[in-house]
Order: sequence, then C-alpha cells, then structure tokens
Amino acid sequence: MAGDGKTSIWWNGKLVPFADAKTHVLSHCLHYGTGVFEGIRAYETPKGVAVFRLQEHVDRLFFSAKAYRIPMPVTPKQVFDGCREVIRANDLRACYIRPLAFLGHGPLGVFPKNVPTEVVIAAYPWGAYLGEGSLEKGIRTTISSWTRLHHASFPTAAKGSGQYLNSTLAVREAREKGFEEAILLDRNGNVAEGSGENLFLVVKGRLVTPGIDSSILPGITRDSVIQIAKAFGIETEVRSVSRGELYGADELFFTGTAAEVTPIREVDGYVIGEGRRGPVTEKLQTAFFRTVKGEDPAREAWLARV
Ligand SMILES: Cc1ncc(COP(=O)(O)O)c(C=O)c1O
Repeated sequence: MAGDGKTSIWWNGKLVPFADAKTHVLSHCLHYGTGVFEGIRAYETPKGVAVFRLQEHVDRLFFSAKAYRIPMPVTPKQVFDGCREVIRANDLRACYIRPLAFLGHGPLGVFPKNVPTEVVIAAYPWGAYLGEGSLEKGIRTTISSWTRLHHASFPTAAKGSGQYLNSTLAVREAREKGFEEAILLDRNGNVAEGSGENLFLVVKGRLVTPGIDSSILPGITRDSVIQIAKAFGIETEVRSVSRGELYGADELFFTGTAAEVTPIREVDGYVIGEGRRGPVTEKLQTAFFRTVKGEDPAREAWLARV
C-alpha cells in the first residue's frame, strides 16, 4: 500500500496522515513480534459499503490481545467504529482493513514492562489474494516442509504478529517452488491449514475440516462457510485429517478473509478431483459472495454498514 498524500491511518482513536503514521525502530513489536492483528474485508452491497463480520473480527482482536497479555488502550467499540471511519475517511469502496495492536517504544527487555500499546487501523483496496483467476480456476499447493507452530508453544487461536514468521517461511518456500500456497501439517503429521487460510475437504458430499487441536486459527470465513453449508443441508465434520486423505478428496478449498473461498486443484502433483473448481466448492463460493455482497437477506446481520 502506498500513501497518495490523502490516505489516513487511524491511530489510537484519531486519524493521522499516512506519512505521519510512523513508529520508532526500538518498538518492542519490531524486535519480538509482540503484536496482534486482524484482516477484515468490506464489500460493496446494494445498501452501500459494508464490513463482513466486523464484530467477530473485533472480538478476535481483543481475544488475541488477552492471550498475549497486551493491554488495550482503546475499547472494542472504538475499534469497531474506527474500522468504518477509516474506510469513510479514505473514500474506499470494497477494501481490506488491517487493525494492529502492537507494543511500541519503551524498554526493550523481553518482559514488556511499561511499554505502551499502539492501536492502528489501515484500509486499502485488495483484489484476489492468491492471484488473478484463482477463485475460478483454483490454485496449486504444496505440503510445506515447515510444521505449523504448535498450540503448546503459542496460543494458536490468537492472531499474533510473531506467529506469522511460521507462515512467511511456508509461503515463501511454496512460491519459490512454483506453487501458489503452502499446506502446513501439525506436529502430529495431520493437516493443519494454509499459511493464511483454513482448509476444507469435500468427501462424498460432506465437508471435513481440521479442528483447533490441529493448531489452526479458527477462521471467521471457516465459520461462515460451515454455517452457509449447513443451510444447504451440507454437514461439516471437524476432525483430524491425515495428509493422505487430501489426495483422495473429491474437492479441496481454502477459506480466509484474504483468500475468500479459493478452490485447490493440485497438491504436490496430485490432481484433486477433476483438477478444477468442483461443484460443492462452487456452490459454497457463490453463496459466500452473495452473502458478503449483501445479496442474501437471511445474513444481513453479518454486515456492518460503513
Ligand atoms: C493462519 C491463518 N489461518 C486461517 C485464516 C483465516 O481466518 P479468517 O477466515 O478469520 O480470515 C487466517 C487469516 O486470517 C490465517 O492467517
């Protein structure tokens, strides 16, 4: 994202110009990853721009802060309103919103004593995360040589900045090998998730997805898809998934705020199903996009108007 001189960033409750949204090089988070963040999307709907499941994202941000014992200087309501304010201030339509709460400039001991928390929110336009055509054609993935960080070492249900070193290693390796995304296994060798997405299998018309005991981030898109599927009468089994099961699945797809619902057409040379977006994935993806774009009256409650 680049500032054009007009872009504003929300900082502890106030809008500041893009160029002034700076922190010191001795900020605690820069050294130790002591931050928590969210990734949220807003979409254009017939009633104007709306943020998808904003309350759930705000709740997860505050849960993540609690898990890492990062004191929050602002309230959930301020962050909720701040996300909408930053969209309006920057005159954005469909966009990605990035709140971040991080330990700022203070003593640099690993034990964060008297270090202030800074809370910022940025918003900017962002298209399909996994590349042009990925939502229609599906993507090629590889099993990472890196294991997903384990919940005995980190509160993996939280979205902690430092945790993303693990994701960065995995996605970099995947891209360097010519794949779009990595699939990480957990410490037991079961499937966990993508570097920034949850994973679903379609097996004989049902969905299967790993649970929190596989060290996943329980995604808000994952929850949305489970609920949308249920309304179609498609049940989801939440359980451990062995690596080999991926190769025999009828369909695979990723879910995530950035990735939305992205079909997976290959895992390390194994063609999944017909090697393209499968019918169940397409049905859920279509329903997901109708929902986020305000075309499903039954799910209006998931949209926060800007
Ligand atoms: C590691 C990881 N897993 C899963 C997800 C999907 O979560 P959500 O659907 O809430 O965006 C994300 C993205 O936030 C992520 O970074």
